[in-house]
Amino acid sequence: MIVYGLSNSQSLARKISRKANASVGRVITKSFPDGELYLRFLEKPIGKVVLVQSMHPNPNSALIELVFAAKEAKELGAGKVVGVVPYLCYMRQDKSFRPWECVSSHHMASLLNNSLDELITIDPHLHRIHDLKEIFTIQAKAITANSLLADYIAKHFKKEIIIGPDIESYQWAERIASRLKLQAIVLRKKRYAARKVRIKIKSSVELKGKNVLIVDDIISSGHTMLETVKEAKRLGAKSITCVAVHGILAEGALSKLEKEGAKVVTTNTIENPTSKIDVSDLIAGSLK
Ligand code: R5P
Repeated sequence: MIVYGLSNSQSLARKISRKANASVGRVITKSFPDGELYLRFLEKPIGKVVLVQSMHPNPNSALIELVFAAKEAKELGAGKVVGVVPYLCYMRQDKSFRPWECVSSHHMASLLNNSLDELITIDPHLHRIHDLKEIFTIQAKAITANSLLADYIAKHFKKEIIIGPDIESYQWAERIASRLKLQAIVLRKKRYAARKVRIKIKSSVELKGKNVLIVDDIISSGHTMLETVKEAKRLGAKSITCVAVHGILAEGALSKLEKEGAKVVTTNTIENPTSKIDVSDLIAGSLK
């Protein structure tokens, strides 16, 4: 088995290969002057080839890089091509919200169905799509980082209450709370636009003087977390920590959250300064 790290996941790929006792392959990518992708394997990809590529930053070029690398590996003689995609993009556009709108998750899946033999991903955003089988024809495995999040919380925080900011977050908030035997409150969110959400915590919820952990799968623009943080502050929380699997942290989300006094912790499915929780063991385990 050879593990290759594509542009977004090179250090994670090295960790995975160490833990899976596999060799690390080398692949170079760059842009031609017109923006097209150049990609070259520095040794022939043979046997089981694992391509590690998270879909953030630059989801569109990350996706095309993975597709080209997978197809090329096949052409060069790889026996099996496994895509390890720690953060899978486009999963939130899972229906036509307005007439003739593109259901991007289906098209993303079709590109991967046509290029990979197998997909391994972590906590994909499963909402209206309940199972990856609904969009993937290849073997597609979703693993959860919930146990890692719970262990990290247990070790590092004086925890008193877990909040899930919207109904979809129960898969993380409620499950982690039940592992830690903590109280969980899952809120209702109204999203008006990509950067506009409204969240209200009922004043009857007792947060005064408590350490609050807001748990979700993704922090993207950060507005879901920001609105929840403001509400928790309004109700007198003593400390607030936002914990998520995928830290996209677009458009200055991290500094906006820190300005509100919140701490942020995420996994390294997307590598950034908040990624304190390492998922390489989880992935290596599922490759073995
Ligand atoms: C959506 O339901 C997800 O679970 C997250 O709550 C959402 O993607 C976060 O997006 P943003 O950070 O842009 O509010």
